Amino acid sequence: MKHILARSAARALIGGGRNYHRHFSTAVILEPRHQHGGGALGSFYIRRLSSVPEMKDEQAGETKNEVNNSNAVVSSYWGISRPKVQREDGTEWPWNCFMPWDTYRADVSIDVTKHHLPKTFTDKVAFRAVKFLRVLSDMYFKERYGCHAMMLETIAAVPGMVGGMLLHLKSLRKFQHSGGWIKALLEEAENERMHLMTMVELVKPSWHERLLVITAQGVFFNAFFVFYLLSPKAAHRFVGYLEEEAVISYTQHLNAIESGKVENVPAPAIAIDYWRLPKDATLKDVITVIRADEAHHRDVNHFASDIHHQGKELKEAPAPLGYH
Ligand SMILES: [Fe+2]
Ligand SMILES: [Fe+2]
Repeated sequence: MKHILARSAARALIGGGRNYHRHFSTAVILEPRHQHGGGALGSFYIRRLSSVPEMKDEQAGETKNEVNNSNAVVSSYWGISRPKVQREDGTEWPWNCFMPWDTYRADVSIDVTKHHLPKTFTDKVAFRAVKFLRVLSDMYFKERYGCHAMMLETIAAVPGMVGGMLLHLKSLRKFQHSGGWIKALLEEAENERMHLMTMVELVKPSWHERLLVITAQGVFFNAFFVFYLLSPKAAHRFVGYLEEEAVISYTQHLNAIESGKVENVPAPAIAIDYWRLPKDATLKDVITVIRADEAHHRDVNHFASDIHHQGKELKEAPAPLGYH
């Protein structure tokens, strides 16, 4: 016991590294640098303001609006805490699942009509497979746009994770850099997951939809894993076409909002912070930025497939880091 106390005291005095966070929380303020940002750091300038003594650390779990939760687990033993982060307007950053430097303004000027004409045999198979899946999903969801989007996002977030994971393993196996592609694909997966976290604020899944998601994930994850191992060229093309369909789906969703079929409700708080939308943003704004993201994923995956088509590896081409 004596040893533990002595060690703790020494750590507190020496400070540095994780111990710094154990005894002091760090205030971070975010200041706008550009009007239109992009990339991992986006338009924020992060400045540590001061060190404020704090007795109780907060849990860095993935919870909503729980920064000040008095029930947060005290994690002082492990020195895990999060810095105090503020929005530009001085209010406290409420999310643990993403930080301001993970946010960005979507480039909505991207061409949402682009289509890759299937030329090779693998292109044609990938295109036909996606069109077949589209028919099935249209039959199931019909005009339930919100539910359709929510369910598809549970699938859309899988390929980036599988591709990123396999490139990660390849990098380890071959003692090679990935050229940034691991991170780029994982960023895509995370971006898709944020689409899901947004949609689930708007549509509450029923028990049978949850069951469908569990089944679909089990099948799709394993199938796509094998698919990517066998042919990353075809797998990326397949995802490129899936993203084209996602763009079409969100365009239909937007048309339904404009025609009044779908109510243009206020945007969820998570979406306003993630895409740096105005406080009075609506569902239409959210669907517009999600559609822009999908168009970027379309380009990234067709580009990746093109690289393979040229007989090259992804690491030989620039990785689309921070490209949403
Ligand atoms: Fe998505
Ligand atoms: Fe996507």
